[in-house]
Amino acid sequence: LKTEALSALDTLTDEAALEAFRIDYLGKKGKLTGLSAGMRDVPVEQKKDVGAKLNEVRDAITNGLATRKEALQAAKDAEAVAGIDLTLPGRPGAGTGTLHPLTQIRDLAVRTLRRMGFTLADGPEVETEWHCFDALNTPADHPARNESDTFYMPDGKLLRTHTSSVQIRTLETVKALPVRIIAPGAAYRRDEIDATHLSVFNQIEALFVDKDVSLADLKGTLEFFFREVFGPGTAVRFRPHFFPFTEPSFEIDVKLEAKGKEARWIEIAGCGMVDPAVFAAVSKSRGDDLFHPDQVTGFAFGMGLDRLAMILHGISDIRHLIENDVRFLQQF
Ligand code: PHE
Repeated sequence: LKTEALSALDTLTDEAALEAFRIDYLGKKGKLTGLSAGMRDVPVEQKKDVGAKLNEVRDAITNGLATRKEALQAAKDAEAVAGIDLTLPGRPGAGTGTLHPLTQIRDLAVRTLRRMGFTLADGPEVETEWHCFDALNTPADHPARNESDTFYMPDGKLLRTHTSSVQIRTLETVKALPVRIIAPGAAYRRDEIDATHLSVFNQIEALFVDKDVSLADLKGTLEFFFREVFGPGTAVRFRPHFFPFTEPSFEIDVKLEAKGKEARWIEIAGCGMVDPAVFAAVSKSRGDDLFHPDQVTGFAFGMGLDRLAMILHGISDIRHLIENDVRFLQQF
């Protein structure tokens, strides 16, 4: 039986045949199983020898089956890689990615401001009206608060319309002066989507509060910042403006060369000296005098990072920044 079984094994060429073989010999009604059942008719004095023989045959068949299975699998593997040169080296360069242009600009802005002593802060994107508007001295009838400009949630919260809410989040929790923070993050507005507007965009906010922060500090910080970002010779100008949470307030323009055209002033950021009404609101909520309007002054500025990336790279449509078209992304 052993010889018969082992030579039968060699002719089998697939898994199904091997399984049939197993059932034929080792299964419940298999040939070997039948022989083992015959043990009860073997005289006692021969039982030991016959039993040993039977075990030997069973082991031989089981091992033979396993060996054959391995051989078949090895043949299959060999066939699968036939014609492929496994010793060839990999192709270099394929699949090496780069950082998204927006990430690069954000990192540059953060790195530059951190060198000036600013530390990172953040706050929630789903914000209360108080943090986004009231504490920032924005009256209830201000147009920015309209349903048509701001995404309101069913629970009365809203998607923050600017990162200035992080000014309030920070002033509420900080324990000592000075406060010198930056907050990059998303902001949301119900704008019609076009080449320069998305309903989600990115800003970076900065806030510096101490015993006597002056407008000169604000000017020096921003001039340094924009010369780091746009190059050493960059001209920066401050135009009087209005924000509810700063007084005085300014818009900042930088003068940039456009290829082949005359240099142009481009609006890039909003800024100003923190309005005492903001310190008053925060002091009331904290219940202490750390930010008493008579004790501290501060400056704040905020700007759009998408816009910064577009200006720096000459990107004409903001939608390129979110479409993830590799033909666009590969350029950075
Ligand atoms: N939050 C203002 C905006 O989104 C920008 C700003 C920030 C202005 C800080 C002044 C101070 O337009």
